[in-house]
Amino acid sequence: MDIKKVGIIGTGTMGVGMAQVCAQAGIPTVAVKATPGTPERAQAGLEKSLARMVERGKMEAAEKDAIVGRIAFTTDEGAVADCDLVIESIIEDLDTKKALFKRLEGVCTPDALLTTNTSTLSVTSMMAVCEHRQRVAGLHFFNPAPAMALVEIIHAFETSESTVRALEAFCKEIGKDPVIVQDTTGFIVNRLLTPYLLSAVRLLERGTGDIEGIDHAMMSGAGHPMGPFALADYIGLDVVNAMAQNIYNDARTDHHNPPHTLTRLVELGYLGRKTGKGFYDYSSKPPTANPALKHPIS
Ligand code: CAA
Repeated sequence: MDIKKVGIIGTGTMGVGMAQVCAQAGIPTVAVKATPGTPERAQAGLEKSLARMVERGKMEAAEKDAIVGRIAFTTDEGAVADCDLVIESIIEDLDTKKALFKRLEGVCTPDALLTTNTSTLSVTSMMAVCEHRQRVAGLHFFNPAPAMALVEIIHAFETSESTVRALEAFCKEIGKDPVIVQDTTGFIVNRLLTPYLLSAVRLLERGTGDIEGIDHAMMSGAGHPMGPFALADYIGLDVVNAMAQNIYNDARTDHHNPPHTLTRLVELGYLGRKTGKGFYDYSSKPPTANPALKHPIS
C-alpha cells in the first residue's frame, strides 16, 4: 500500500514532530489540533524550530518553507478523510483514544491504516472498538521525532501482516528505522527504559550519588547522550510517572513501581523541562539540581 497522505491527530510535541518528519519526506500531511483552541501555536512552534535549523546551517530556507507548506494545520477531524494513514497522538487516556478510533472509523476509508503513538497503553484495547481491526496498529515514535531513528511498529492481536508491511515500508520511506513489536505494555523501549529511569531515582533516594553525578556517570561511562535525570526531565516527569504506573498495573513487578520522589515531584508540579523544574532547575544555565531535592522529600 502506497501512503500518499498522512493525518496526525494531536498537535503536541510528538504530533508536530511526526508531522515534520512526514512533510520532510515529501508527504502531504494534515495536522489536527485535538483539544479546544486554534492550531496556530503549534504551527508557530514548528516554524520557529525549523528557523533555528536554518540559522544553524542545517537546513535551507527553501526546504523549511516546503516542509511548512506540506502540512495543513486544522481543527477539523474530518480533514483526515482522504488520508491513507492516520497517527493519533492525543492525551494518554485509553477511553479518549478509544472514542477517537470509533470516530475515525466513521471518517476514514475502510482500508486507511489507523495507528496510535501511545507509549504504554494497549493498542489491542483501541482495536477492540473498531470494525475493521486488521488495519489498526501502533506506530511509536521517540522524542524528538525528527532526530530519533527508531519507530516501534506495534502488532496488536488482529493487525494484518499487510498492515505491518505497509507501515514498515512507510517508516523506511520517511527515513526511520522500524522494529516490529508485539502489543505488550511499554513495548520494547519503554519497558526497558522506564525501570532504568526509576532505578536512577532509587539510587538518588539511597544516597548512592547525586543528580549530576549519576547523570555524568551514565553519559561518560555508558555512552548515553543524556543521563537518566536529564532524560526524565526531557520526556516529562508526568509522562515517566504514567508510563511506570501503566507498566506496574500490568506487570506488578516492584521495579516498575514509581518511586516516592518521582510521584512527589509530579504532585508538586515539577514536570521537567516543560515547567522549568524537574530533577533540574532550568532557570540557571547550565541547569542545576532542583533545590527541592537537597533534602529527601517525604
Ligand atoms: N528537530 C529536528 N532535528 C532535531 C531536533 C528537532 N526538534 N532536535 C535535535 N535535532 C537534531 C539536530 O539537528 C542534530 O542533527 P544532526 O546530527 O544531523 O546535525 C541532532 O538532532 C543532534 O541535535 P543537537 O546537536 O542539537 O543536540 P544533541 O547532540 O545534544 O542531541 C538529542 C539532542 C537528540 C535530544 C540527544 O540528546 C538525545 O538523543 N537524547 C536522548 C533522547 C531520547 O532518548 N529520546 C527518547 C525518549 S523516550 C521516548 O520518547 C518514548 C516515550 O514514549 C516517552
